[in-house]
Amino acid sequence: MSLTQQNHRASTDPGLDGARALVAAGLRDAVDGLHPDLGQLASYHFGWSAANGTPVSDESGKLLRATLTLLSTSAVGAEPTAGVPGAVAVEMIHNFSLLHDDIMDGDALRRGRPAAWVVFGAGMATLAGDALIATAFDILRSTESSRGRRSADLLLAALHQMIDGQAADLSLERVSASEVNADHYLRACGKTTALLEAAAAIGAVLGGAQSATVDALRQAGRHLGLSWQMANDVEDIWGDPAATGKPARSDLVRSKKTIPVILALRAGNAAAIDLARLVSEQVRQPTADHLQAQADLIERAGGRRQAEELSARHLALAIGKLAESDVPEAGRQRMDELFRLILGRHGVSMVAGG
Ligand code: IPE
Ligand code: MG
Ligand code: MG
Repeated sequence: MSLTQQNHRASTDPGLDGARALVAAGLRDAVDGLHPDLGQLASYHFGWSAANGTPVSDESGKLLRATLTLLSTSAVGAEPTAGVPGAVAVEMIHNFSLLHDDIMDGDALRRGRPAAWVVFGAGMATLAGDALIATAFDILRSTESSRGRRSADLLLAALHQMIDGQAADLSLERVSASEVNADHYLRACGKTTALLEAAAAIGAVLGGAQSATVDALRQAGRHLGLSWQMANDVEDIWGDPAATGKPARSDLVRSKKTIPVILALRAGNAAAIDLARLVSEQVRQPTADHLQAQADLIERAGGRRQAEELSARHLALAIGKLAESDVPEAGRQRMDELFRLILGRHGVSMVAGG
């Protein structure tokens, strides 16, 4: 099952659940304050209403990034509610990025429904994303404390890195099979890692943690993000759209050289050579057969297995960063569980000795 389709609660902890309810309410309040057309679009995108504005759900989704923020706050010994403004802001930035990303990727499906830009137009979806960015910073600024300001600085840095990552990601579509390399891919991963780092770090900052602790949690978030992105890249090629809620093989259609492709291309075997030829053909509108042939060559060259192993290794590194931190055992364990839950949905579990 995909990250977006399970309605799983990450905890049964009353303190955490209360804080998550505050996050959900904060998101709805913020959306209510937007121009009505943007509010309607955002409400549709979050899954709260149908395209015509009719309410369809009281749920607020999994709020995984918000949960990471709140767990980080409580892991450093504060009440999870102290992390709420950060958690709301992080979710808003995440949803801005999805609204814009689907336009950039030309993806017509998100969370199993037509993407917002398909329903409301790219102009409105762009603006709704812009509005979510501005509102995220409003929320952090309203905390009026040095912790709030530090959180806003972290979120701003994350936003820059996400934009940088998306630029690198789009250039992965244009770079040739012979020139693409792992550094290029890692730069593109900033699109995902930046916000997970920020979620973990902001939660700790709002909980009053020392900078060494904040940094350890930030690094754990980075490895979590790398693990997640690599799993997401595998899922794009071999996942079931009915489960992912996203279009099949969108990355291959756009000639995006994601990690399974890069690892396959450098495998040096016969399948790698055939794959390089196929990728270089840059067919404008590849057929399902053409995409299947690419997927098979990537798998035969070993790109799928290596990407899965690398993803699992980064999950292990994320958990290792938690273990090295001075976060008390109970808090670490709950973050560890969240990490495994997030990646478990992508079929990733830790490799032995990883
Ligand atoms: C999305 O990356 C990253 C951001 C939204 C910044 P992808 O394009 O790889 O993710 P999906 O598959 O559309 O969710
Ligand atoms: Mg995308
Ligand atoms: Mg994208």
